[in-house]
Amino acid sequence: MATGVPSGKSKKQGMDFQISYVGKKSEEEILNQPAKQLNRINLIEGNHEFETSGRMIYGDNLDGMRSLLNEGFAGKIDAVYIDPPYATQSDFFTSDQKLAYEDRMTGAEFIEFMRERLILIRELMKPTGSIFVHMDEKMAFTIKIIMDEIFGQQNFHNWITRKKSNPKNTVTKKFGDISDYIMFYSKSSKYKFNKQYTAWSEDAAFKEYSYKDDDDERYKKVPIYAPGVRNGKTGEPWRGMMPPKGKHWQYTPEKLDELDAAGLIYWSSNGNPRKKVYLKDSKGMAMQDIFMDYKDAHNQNIEVTGYPTEKNIDLIELLLKSITDQGDLVLDAFSGSGTTAQAAMNLGRNWIVLDSSNEALKALRGRVEYEQKRENVDLFSVNHFSVSFEKVAK
Ligand SMILES: C[S@@+](CC[C@H](N)C(=O)[O-])C[C@H]1O[C@@H](n2cnc3c(N)ncnc32)[C@H](O)[C@@H]1O
Repeated sequence: MATGVPSGKSKKQGMDFQISYVGKKSEEEILNQPAKQLNRINLIEGNHEFETSGRMIYGDNLDGMRSLLNEGFAGKIDAVYIDPPYATQSDFFTSDQKLAYEDRMTGAEFIEFMRERLILIRELMKPTGSIFVHMDEKMAFTIKIIMDEIFGQQNFHNWITRKKSNPKNTVTKKFGDISDYIMFYSKSSKYKFNKQYTAWSEDAAFKEYSYKDDDDERYKKVPIYAPGVRNGKTGEPWRGMMPPKGKHWQYTPEKLDELDAAGLIYWSSNGNPRKKVYLKDSKGMAMQDIFMDYKDAHNQNIEVTGYPTEKNIDLIELLLKSITDQGDLVLDAFSGSGTTAQAAMNLGRNWIVLDSSNEALKALRGRVEYEQKRENVDLFSVNHFSVSFEKVAK
């Protein structure tokens, strides 16, 4: 595998190109529209593992987010997940055949629809906040350029490919399309990221940790030096040996002595030291940017809400865990069935979600009422939760 070496030359900051289309407004025009009033339509309270609060704003999310900015939410949101319409030119129905939403916009109209909302989202986010934007291949590449304009190319971190369904035996002249994409951006370079791990499969663990010690514990051998010359202690000789040319020890000579005394240095027959790293100390396999185990339910009837395009809750929980801590505030401006709200509730995060569909309002209310009635909450550690439902005034 050929790997490029970073040149070290300073990179140009900012974009030196932009996407242009008919109807592209200025940021000022987008941000300076007046906000509408929000009217409370319902409040549900109950007991829960976590002390959390949630809000659903029913109406166009552009109006809803303007109202949030007007209320003082600018710079208050820790994390965002959105799964907007994908410009499919289709209508989406619930499992009982009610129209959930229409996805008819295409081209420049769709791009500007997304851009306006992404600009408001950026304004709502904390400087340390991050955002995941879920899309499919139709518009993901175009929206990536819009994201670069709004959040900055330097704040782009991952293009996650998710396996969304089982293999398809497609009759059209193409490969089966079973993936969609999640873009990960932060608002600035100072953002929160909690590394996520998956459990080792036996096969992968045995390949990676291929040695066993006298107690039958699996380990691997890793170099004790790293690239780059150092003048301090890590550049000094250890046991009469200098680090290899152009490298330095990863630990000071004292620390290397300690590791050796603890039996954590492996000496090869020709006297080459390496560190023993044990499987039992591993948190698992660090997650990569291809997600194979988070496909959506193939049949919406088996899901909680029956709302179309409902996403896999484990996927949303994983994403939220990576960029939030307990008590943080999560936003989803295209709530749908309320998967993000449910994931946030499950993890003890506060949330605000928006959607213009009456079926989305019903689906989320169903989830919250279910939560309110749930009996398996540990009675000794119950906390309070409250969810308010509000409507954007016409
Ligand atoms: C793909 S679905 C989201 C599904 C959701 N992630 C889930 O797991 O159920 C997109 C949602 O965006 C909503 N939507 C589309 N345009 C909107 C707008 N302008 N304001 C608020 N919601 C909108 C639709 O009603 C729909 O529920």
